[in-house]
Amino acid sequence: MASLTVRKLDDDIKTALKLRAARSGRSVEDEVRVILREAAQASAAPSGTSAPPAASVIPAAPRRIGTAAGDRPRVTLIIGGGIAAYKALDLIRRLKDRGCHVRCVLTRAAQQFVTPLAAGALADERCYTDLFDAQSEFDAGHIRLARDCDLIVVAPATADLMAKMAHGHADDLASAVLLASNRPILLAPAMNPAMWSNAATRRNAAQLARDGVALIGPNAGEMAEAGEAGIGRMAEPLEIAARAEALLRPPQTQILKGRKLLITAGPTHEPIDPVRYIANRSSGKQGYAIAAAAAAAGAAVTLVSGPVNLPDPAGVTVIRIDSARAMLTQVEQALPADVAIFAAAVADWRVANAGEQKIKKTKGGMPPLQLVENPDILATISKLTHHRPRLVVGFAAETEHLIAHARAKLARKGCDWIVANDVSPGSGVMGGDRNTIHLITRDDPPDHQPDSWPVMTKDDVATALVARIAQALNAPEPTAS
Ligand SMILES: Cc1cc2nc3c(=O)[nH]c(=O)nc-3n(C[C@H](O)[C@H](O)[C@H](O)COP(=O)(O)O)c2cc1C
Repeated sequence: MASLTVRKLDDDIKTALKLRAARSGRSVEDEVRVILREAAQASAAPSGTSAPPAASVIPAAPRRIGTAAGDRPRVTLIIGGGIAAYKALDLIRRLKDRGCHVRCVLTRAAQQFVTPLAAGALADERCYTDLFDAQSEFDAGHIRLARDCDLIVVAPATADLMAKMAHGHADDLASAVLLASNRPILLAPAMNPAMWSNAATRRNAAQLARDGVALIGPNAGEMAEAGEAGIGRMAEPLEIAARAEALLRPPQTQILKGRKLLITAGPTHEPIDPVRYIANRSSGKQGYAIAAAAAAAGAAVTLVSGPVNLPDPAGVTVIRIDSARAMLTQVEQALPADVAIFAAAVADWRVANAGEQKIKKTKGGMPPLQLVENPDILATISKLTHHRPRLVVGFAAETEHLIAHARAKLARKGCDWIVANDVSPGSGVMGGDRNTIHLITRDDPPDHQPDSWPVMTKDDVATALVARIAQALNAPEPTAS
């Protein structure tokens, strides 16, 4: 097939082409493709029908956020020159996992931390670095990068980039793209805590928020610099991708707007003495994903979490506890709620005779641990007569007889739905990113086959579960007879 070099066209054709591309919001190359496609359709059309003339100027409808099905949302990811730039490489993957087309812009400083080659190889196309790149500026590359996308994400957003944005600078490709953009912008700031708390950065962040720019993080934690800690760590790539996804989603998908959800997640730690505890392998990932998906769907979400290594999901009120008893107290305090989802792996037993001091090794051997049953949070909330959530969802993590055990659990606890998942060692569910679940509801007839979902990422399970919950809440409530 012959190739076409736009650069070699006559000047007046190039000008007409540029005008047409600018009007339709496409690159010159994309515009040429459209013209060729139209020409091919015109020649293939039966006589009597007329296709639009190839050279006509037909303004395209502006691209919408959350584009039509089948059309991947486009994200321009600007990587700033901070130590967290390496995490931007993971962010590219996370955005692509969510179906986004990713195109990267690296600042000059960013290239000290990651290479354009690495970012370009992970993204969907080559990386852009230079405002005065003759090749891409032929069709006003910085304007195209600014407009030919549904969202711009800046991660890490350096103090410098934020200052430039707040003051309208445009002296390099990243700042020119940001200034020329009429698309939503999400910033993930990352810097030393002293830079973040500096009055200038505070002013710039406040100005950007007033300008309608969305910010995520920074989080609190340890810095790359030895001995430094505080607020300044970039939000985790998963958090940023989830927030980007929420911004890309059309507003009508706020299917849980006005609803209140209570979710538990993670393991509990039951003390043996001040330094030892009984725990389990729950990572909290599924519960956190549900909390994030519910918040993205517009719900007010309270997440009561056991000890996990996960960042707070965006827009979620997170209450961290250690033990089962503390979890029950916080769950009760978070009521009323429309829906309660108990995804936490709560320890069934705790040590009745936990030591007040560290138990010492003695010649007599280990002192016997007396175990007592912990409160059953799922059963307690399911059986409430006052403030019982309309929908109570339990999780059944089983290693054998999954469906039979899950059905028995649903009946025993009195909840409305059970999400059953196989957590046997070979399944990789505990701590992994994927899950295979079976949804069993109270209204299923006894011989009913459970609703078994295919293997999905925990994020996708969360999104699908949120959709099912919204459907259930919108169904008319059964009337008391
Ligand atoms: C090792 C090193 C780490 C840096 N980390 C950060 C950082 O995390 N955040 C930040 O705002 N600036 C950081 N800087 C300073 C920026 O690189 C500097 O302000 C640069 O001009 C930013 O350019 P950009 O905003 O165009 O990417 C760091 C500098 C060095 C040398």
